[in-house]
Amino acid sequence: MNKYTLLLLLLNTFFISNTKSQSYNANWTDLNSRPNPGWYDQVKFGIFIHFGVYSVPAFATHDYAEWYWYNLVNDNGTTQKWQDQHFGEHFQYQDFAPMFNCRLFNPDEWASIFQKSGAKYVVLTSKHHEGYTLWKSDQSWSWNSVENGPGIDIVGKLTNSVKAQGLHMGLYHSLYEWFNPLYLADKKSGNPPTQNTYVKEVLLNQLRDIVLKYEPDIVWADGEWEQYSDYWGSKEFLSWLYSDSPVKETVVVNDRWGKETRGVDGGFYTGGDNWQPGHLVTHKWENCQTIGSSYGYNENEPAEAYQDSTILIQEFVETVACGGNFLLDVGPNAEGVIPNNMVDRLYDIGKFLSINGESIYGSSPWRIQNQTQSIWFTTNTTTGAIYAFSYYFPEDGVFNFNEIIGSKSTIVELFGYKSKNPITIETYQPKGINITVPFVSPSDYPPFIYVFKFINAY
Ligand SMILES: *[C@@H]1O[C@H](CO)[C@@H](O)[C@H](O)[C@H]1NC(C)=O
Ligand SMILES: *[C@@H]1O[C@H](CO)[C@@H](O)[C@H](O)[C@H]1NC(C)=O
Ligand SMILES: *[C@@H]1O[C@H](CO)[C@@H](O)[C@H](O)[C@H]1NC(C)=O
Ligand SMILES: *[C@@H]1O[C@H](CO)[C@@H](O)[C@H](O)[C@H]1NC(C)=O
Ligand SMILES: *[C@@H]1O[C@H](CO)[C@@H](O)[C@H](O)[C@H]1NC(C)=O
Repeated sequence: MNKYTLLLLLLNTFFISNTKSQSYNANWTDLNSRPNPGWYDQVKFGIFIHFGVYSVPAFATHDYAEWYWYNLVNDNGTTQKWQDQHFGEHFQYQDFAPMFNCRLFNPDEWASIFQKSGAKYVVLTSKHHEGYTLWKSDQSWSWNSVENGPGIDIVGKLTNSVKAQGLHMGLYHSLYEWFNPLYLADKKSGNPPTQNTYVKEVLLNQLRDIVLKYEPDIVWADGEWEQYSDYWGSKEFLSWLYSDSPVKETVVVNDRWGKETRGVDGGFYTGGDNWQPGHLVTHKWENCQTIGSSYGYNENEPAEAYQDSTILIQEFVETVACGGNFLLDVGPNAEGVIPNNMVDRLYDIGKFLSINGESIYGSSPWRIQNQTQSIWFTTNTTTGAIYAFSYYFPEDGVFNFNEIIGSKSTIVELFGYKSKNPITIETYQPKGINITVPFVSPSDYPPFIYVFKFINAY
């Protein structure tokens, strides 16, 4: 062994033991000092899945069909009236569970759809606010997908299939449950509650259970807004997750851990639903976006409520240009099928990424995020390449990028451009580049939007 190898070995030992001994106390200062594992910023694109008993009625008069049970009690009778009419007056929300049949649920097929979309991670609702769990939770006896409904460990099956496709698997988990009697009793004890029976007996056991059983790379908390993180035991859970759990090296979490934590504490920030800040956010963040207006499947949603692929790609680009990850939601139906109009969108995004992937994966925000609302930028910090995304093709064929500094050695490429008729480049002092893309056969242009790569430009 020479000196150099010895040094490497020592360094290696130091870093391995260093990460192994890393432990985080249950306070936000300490927890927030943990850097996000690097994979998360690289991957940019994930698929969110809202799936549960609400996928059976699949009904909302507006917005969120996964809020069906809540609406049943709280929307002045609109949902109740609809249910009475179609399922009878004695029908209870719980009676939908046996109808959650998942007859066509094929987790390998789902994973293969996600893989084809170019997504690199998946986040599944292990439990939404209704409290029904998609795995056999001892804390949700007879109100889970193994004992009541399809008889399938949906979390387990999908985790296996997603990981087998080489994607990261994440689990969403709602901290609160609208109607859990233990939680309701805690709430009655005071504001803030003076007891936390629900947290001790249900929530923390469930969170540890999904981490130990399924080893997710993301724990995506939600339903945090009624209580402070002190009540939820979030800091204690995260201290264990980061220091002692089997996923401590890889796991990433969001910021929904208490009514005071969003945009302040935790891992990546999530803002509100469909969060699109439109400017650079320096802390890592994620836009959890819907295709239509509901996360859970809403059969009552008309075709035109679903945004088309080009719009979704633009939302994706803007998110990445501003430093975010794009988590696009699908709502499978009660048979376990992802509706075709959603799959179509995912395949289109996959097509976009197969042409333009290098401008997205592993990219970073550039010094300027956008030139107009229709021209956005990213960069690769290793190669120095600049990527410019134009949502339109100018009438004279001249794309004007007035923020980019070019030189005689600047090279430009339009991804997916198939014509032999060359693109010309003119650079200006002190800055500005004009690109003329010739008029050629429409089939020689890329679909959706126009992505240029600049080398030797600044
Ligand atoms: C949080 O934990 C760190 C590390 O143990 C400790 O140094 C710090 O004093 C703690 N902060 C608070 C506010 O308790
Ligand atoms: C229900 O009715 C009350 C009183 O008219 C109103 O304030 C509230 O906004 C209604 N809620 C919904 C969901 O329609
Ligand atoms: C930059 O580009 C290289 C080569 O295409 C790629 O391997 C890398 O992941 C990209 N991103 C960064 C941050 O280096
Ligand atoms: C960049 O986009 C944001 C969000 O659409 C917009 O508010 C802003 O005006 C744009 N910046 C420029 C320079 O056009
Ligand atoms: C670049 O092209 C645009 C659009 O054709 C034009 O308005 C602009 O004057 C050109 N830039 C320079 C510096 O000539």
